[in-house]
Amino acid sequence: MIVHEHFSLKNYNTFGIDATARFFVEVTSIEELQDILGNQDYDRKIIIGGGSNMLLSDYIEALFIHVDLKGKKIISESNETVEVQVMAGENWHDMVMWALDQNFGGLENMSLIPGNTGTAPIQNIGAYGVELKDCFVSCEAVSIENQELVTLTKEDCKFGYRDSFFKNEGKDKYVITSVTFSFSKKDHKINSGYGAIEQQLEKDSISDPSIKDISNAVIAIRQSKLPDPKVLGNSGSFFKNPIVEKEIFKEFALKNPEAPFYKVSDEYYKIPAGWLIEQCGFKGKRFGDAGVHKNQALVLVNYDNATGKDILNLAEKIIDAVKTKFNIEISPEVNLIK
Ligand code: EPU
Repeated sequence: MIVHEHFSLKNYNTFGIDATARFFVEVTSIEELQDILGNQDYDRKIIIGGGSNMLLSDYIEALFIHVDLKGKKIISESNETVEVQVMAGENWHDMVMWALDQNFGGLENMSLIPGNTGTAPIQNIGAYGVELKDCFVSCEAVSIENQELVTLTKEDCKFGYRDSFFKNEGKDKYVITSVTFSFSKKDHKINSGYGAIEQQLEKDSISDPSIKDISNAVIAIRQSKLPDPKVLGNSGSFFKNPIVEKEIFKEFALKNPEAPFYKVSDEYYKIPAGWLIEQCGFKGKRFGDAGVHKNQALVLVNYDNATGKDILNLAEKIIDAVKTKFNIEISPEVNLIK
């Protein structure tokens, strides 16, 4: 294990921010991870996986630990289902494609999401009507405090909308080393209910879609709406869709009858932040090298040399504008690392 000093993180975050880490190390086994976590020479340790959900400031006085554990293993199987343990450093989309190649169903609606498998449970990633929790069985994680390897069940993880135990009580306490998923092997549940998927399937003249067809449709939609981080630095949705109480929603809907919304429960409604931001006139706008994507206002982009501060300034400008126009608070979905 080599600990690098003053290391550029430009290639380790999908925003492409040229931040400098005081220290950086790559771990390829659980033992190496336990070793470095137990090392008292470094006061502050930050875990980095695919770097797809973080906004880095420009210099960070910490040891970055890049989790690069690889491998997939079938741990149990019946005629109908199969449980697969996937190591944290496996790229999410490659893993989804591998599952589809085996005709394992469940994650196809989440094709083309950037990032690694091990960080996916932290914010319970989701897209097009499906969330990670729908296929999740358990995960293994190393405790940062005592380096013990523990298993967390689905219940332990307390998944919610872009939320889990790892963002609350478990914050900065564990490093996920593997995730176990349950896939269907036959009679797959096809989730084509999400509007954009239906339209895409119609466009492709597919009436009885397979899991691979769903994946292809999702890939086509994502490619048309979301920028490829390899071409234009970004972190996917920068903001969460705000969830508001019924009373506030009613008032909002009265003033904005054309606004899209989802009913979360009898008491709560979710409003797409992308719509709110677009109404404030930010869609496609550029401020220096920081900007708002032209096809999806929820996504902030780095045109080339934006700093973490440039992106953050733009985010604050957007939050203020939405608050002023709609009296609704939106908040970042990405982790801000200072
Ligand atoms: N909308 C606008 N303007 C925009 C963007 C969206 O008016 O610039 C409207 C759309 O017309 C639509 C509604 O907002 O009526 C919802 O848009 P969309 O279906 O694109 O989904 P979203 O709510 O904006 C969420 C996720 C995405 C995920 C999509 C599809 C969050 C924070 N984001 O976006 O996740 O791909 O649904 O399921 O929940 C990510 O987390 O990085 C991500 C891309």
